Amino acid sequence: MIIAIDGPAAAGKGTLARRLAAEFGFAYLDTGALYRAVGLTLLKRGIDPADTTAAEDASANLDLSLFDDPELRAEATGGAASKVAAMPRVRANLLDFQKNFAANPPGGKKGAVLDGRDIGTVVCPDADLKLFVTASAEVRAERRRLEMEGRGQAADFDAILADVRARDERDMGRKDAPLKPAEDALLLDTSNLDIDAVFLRAANLVKDRLTPQ
Ligand code: DC
Repeated sequence: MIIAIDGPAAAGKGTLARRLAAEFGFAYLDTGALYRAVGLTLLKRGIDPADTTAAEDASANLDLSLFDDPELRAEATGGAASKVAAMPRVRANLLDFQKNFAANPPGGKKGAVLDGRDIGTVVCPDADLKLFVTASAEVRAERRRLEMEGRGQAADFDAILADVRARDERDMGRKDAPLKPAEDALLLDTSNLDIDAVFLRAANLVKDRLTPQ
């Protein structure tokens, strides 16, 4: 059983994906973390994230230890990730890891939940369930602001909103695997739904697919 969850930054994909994986005993892969690890490698070396050769090299020799680095979740890392994610060779280098995870979920689990931007369209086009989770840019920026405030970081709504919009534009506008719903994806707009309501809806869809017809 493969569940593909796509959508723009800060729409609530990660929280939903993690909860679904826990509920059904499936493995979970945050594919954004792969692009973030590439971006962070460059930032740590003081290299411009727009440097294609360096990004391609970092994606071919992915430093998995960065997954536990607190800087992985930083806004600057997200911005760098979105830049390296527009490079076709970087995407190609990260594709096998993702496909392999879905085909052979670690720990012998009988299912996998992957979240990202192109899971339903490119990584797992045959996924059993595809969800496209979205929310207005304003709602996503406000969620991000609250999250940052909760971590004790300074957070300016207008700056975050500008950042969210810039990231959307880059993720949707790139030529290679742009962010868009797969034709057979179910849309979940979370602008006016809390996380519990989103989770219940998605969990019911998974249960439907697990029950033999
Ligand atoms: O979901 P996130 O914010 O951690 O993702 C960071 C960036 O990585 C995002 O702006 C675009 C890119 N990304 C991608 O292009 N494809 C994916 N499957 C996941 C993330």
